[in-house]
Amino acid sequence: MASPHPVCQGDPMIKGDLPGGLAVRRPRADDQPRVLAVLDDWWAGFGGDAGSLQRSRLLPRLFFEHFTASSYLVEHADGTVAAFLIGLLSPSQPDVAYIHFVGVDPALRRHGVAAALYRQFFADAARHGRRQVRCITSPGNTISLAFHTALGFRVEPGDLTLDDRTLERDSPSPQGGVTAHRDHDGPGLHRIVFTRPLTGEPPAAQPATASGTTAAHPRPHTSRDLRVCFLGDSFTAGVGDPTRLGWVGRLAAATDPDGLYLTTYNLGIRRDTSTQIHARWKAECLPRLPAGADNRLVLSFGVNDTAIDGQQPRVPLEESVATLHALLTEARPPLPVLVVGPPPGLDETRDVRIRTLDARYAAVCVALDVPYVSVFDTLTALPAWAADLTVGDGVHPGAAGYQILADLVAIPWRSWLDDGDQADGSSAVRG
Ligand SMILES: CC(C)(COP(=O)(O)OP(=O)(O)OC[C@H]1O[C@@H](n2cnc3c(N)ncnc32)[C@H](O)[C@@H]1OP(=O)(O)O)[C@@H](O)C(=O)NCCC(=O)NCCS
Repeated sequence: MASPHPVCQGDPMIKGDLPGGLAVRRPRADDQPRVLAVLDDWWAGFGGDAGSLQRSRLLPRLFFEHFTASSYLVEHADGTVAAFLIGLLSPSQPDVAYIHFVGVDPALRRHGVAAALYRQFFADAARHGRRQVRCITSPGNTISLAFHTALGFRVEPGDLTLDDRTLERDSPSPQGGVTAHRDHDGPGLHRIVFTRPLTGEPPAAQPATASGTTAAHPRPHTSRDLRVCFLGDSFTAGVGDPTRLGWVGRLAAATDPDGLYLTTYNLGIRRDTSTQIHARWKAECLPRLPAGADNRLVLSFGVNDTAIDGQQPRVPLEESVATLHALLTEARPPLPVLVVGPPPGLDETRDVRIRTLDARYAAVCVALDVPYVSVFDTLTALPAWAADLTVGDGVHPGAAGYQILADLVAIPWRSWLDDGDQADGSSAVRG
């Protein structure tokens, strides 16, 4: 379920390109049946029963488990699927990124949704050192042909020429004929092959190694010296995660090093309230954020404020809100700050307080123009989150839950890192 807050609930860099009310995030395994369910409708039965069968076989679950970091899922405000792009960075061809499958809800067509997803994919692929994007489509899918041509793809010459009679008549191919590759995907499964250079996208900094894999180490001398303090509570510390990574470790590990020399500091303390975190932020963060580096702060707290101590929450709501406001005011400028909201637990009464706090934190961030990642509603609607809390200590998730959290934060995090790429590459901090 999408957040009601006008803040970055999975909002990525492409947010500005998408029609309002849409939220974009990385797909998950449990999205696969939801996407399969829309295919026939979205492809309008193209290719009949055989086409339907082929399409469903093109999206096995592995794409929603192993290629999520290069794919996107867009949802309407009511949580229904609005669009998807399944892509990958070719493991065999270090220069190539591949778009496997894309679809947009017919109600949203010609609003630039697919183009926005493609542009985002191009930028991500270029950042990973890819120089070319490839994809295919079926002869007869004239809309796909028009779309890819409009996006700058070239049709790669094949051994079969299709004229307009072979294609559907309602949308003739731009050149009046198109070349395809006979039996590309098996007997009778001819395909149009598209290719597009990525020369217009942000340059990639990461070279391929001799083995064909990408370089594992960032290059400090040519990269942005990015230092990020993650200040928060036990969720920030990753308590309950058997891998000890938590969402912060997973996020850091998944951040590609291209152009970034990223240092992360996990400053999560168990049981800490907003008041305690506010009291220690300068002493803990400032020594880690030297002048001349690109310094940043991620804040995530609030759940401990809502715990009942005696008859009252440990920190009254208004004090929690005022504390976040004070901390943000002290830190900004010069520090760019990203705030990640408190997650829900298993106690319904307490969750009411957490939801209220989430909404108030969102409002503070909107007022101060600070990006806020609200995770509460999405996690509440996800059975996998509650299930993971249940098998853990009842408060903290395990590996699966922290992965969900990391996935929710990943796109706004990347957007925030890119947005704040400062011209002089540095920010001073005050003591
Ligand atoms: C192909 C598809 C993904 C395009 O999605 P979309 O969000 O409507 O596309 P966009 O709005 O971003 O279109 C970008 C440009 O592509 C071209 N284009 C898109 N749809 C077009 C159509 N029906 N006819 C002609 N040109 C079209 C236009 O130049 C458009 O720019 P414009 O609207 O400013 O003229 C969508 O039609 C779809 O989901 N089709 C069914 C699934 C499919 O065939 N997928 C591709 C093969 S895997």
